[in-house]
Amino acid sequence: MGRINGLLLGTLVLLATTMNYSATAPAHDAPIKFDTAIENTVFEFYVNLFKYLFHSLVKTRELLESVLKDDTIVPNNNINRTKEQLQDYIAETTECLKPLPTNMTTLDGFLYIVANIHTINLFGDIVKRYNTTSLPTPTDEDRLIEATLKRHGLDELINNLKIRKTEFINEFLCKMDIVVTDLSEEDKIKNHKLVEWYQNYRNSTEEQRANDVFTHFAQMFARF
Ligand SMILES: *[C@@H]1O[C@H](CO)[C@@H](O)[C@H](O)[C@H]1NC(C)=O
Ligand SMILES: *[C@@H]1O[C@H](CO)[C@@H](O)[C@H](O)[C@H]1NC(C)=O
Ligand SMILES: *[C@@H]1O[C@H](CO)[C@@H](O)[C@H](O)[C@H]1NC(C)=O
Ligand SMILES: *[C@@H]1O[C@H](CO)[C@@H](O)[C@H](O)[C@H]1NC(C)=O
Ligand SMILES: *[C@@H]1O[C@H](CO)[C@@H](O)[C@H](O)[C@H]1NC(C)=O
Repeated sequence: MGRINGLLLGTLVLLATTMNYSATAPAHDAPIKFDTAIENTVFEFYVNLFKYLFHSLVKTRELLESVLKDDTIVPNNNINRTKEQLQDYIAETTECLKPLPTNMTTLDGFLYIVANIHTINLFGDIVKRYNTTSLPTPTDEDRLIEATLKRHGLDELINNLKIRKTEFINEFLCKMDIVVTDLSEEDKIKNHKLVEWYQNYRNSTEEQRANDVFTHFAQMFARF
């Protein structure tokens, strides 16, 4: 872990502990100074990733909560296992969305993000599990759950999250284009891992970038 990494994480933790989760994070107002524009841009990306994950956890939890309250689900005693699975997801997001303790090490901050990514992936598993289009032999229960998820806005939510993700990725790339172009030779050398990572990321297709944001992000971390 290099200097930038520690700085980013330290600042994220600081931000996360002071920001009001239910409002949009006041990232830009925070009294934080970074040495270079490239660090600032990456930091913004990190904050946006954090905000995106937080928003995703809140919205996916809301969706499953409303599914569990649905009239077709509540009286059905034959789908207890599924109900438990959905409740487990809700419990896990609730755990994730707890405010960070004030005394956090920087590693904890990173693990917090990793835990949120892990939880969001569990939601992806649930969606996949009840996707009757791709199941070889969907049961009545699979159809019921899928229909209920859709009735409560699954497709809209997936689209909305994808748009958000694409937005902050594209915003990041636009800013990085300018920042990298303007880097002095000296700063280019100083930040060469970051520049290389960015160039690779830039080269992927939009679809790859949106799908792989977390993988790419983890790679970027590894490269600091
Ligand atoms: C956080 O923001 C929400 C809505 O913006 C507000 O209702 C709430 O009181 C705020 N909480 C704190 C601790 O500032
Ligand atoms: C499912 O849960 C309900 C309420 O907890 C219970 O009454 C019912 O017997 C359970 N059904 C099965 C098949 O276990
Ligand atoms: C953070 O918590 C640990 C364990 O509870 C404690 O040893 C440490 O002194 C605390 N650090 C700060 C800065 O409060
Ligand atoms: C369900 O599976 C189909 C076929 O693999 C896929 O095209 C579709 O996007 C999936 N739906 C969701 C909501 O993931
Ligand atoms: C980006 O793609 C172009 C064209 O495919 C290739 O020439 C270039 O080497 C790639 N850059 C990186 C950093 O992979």
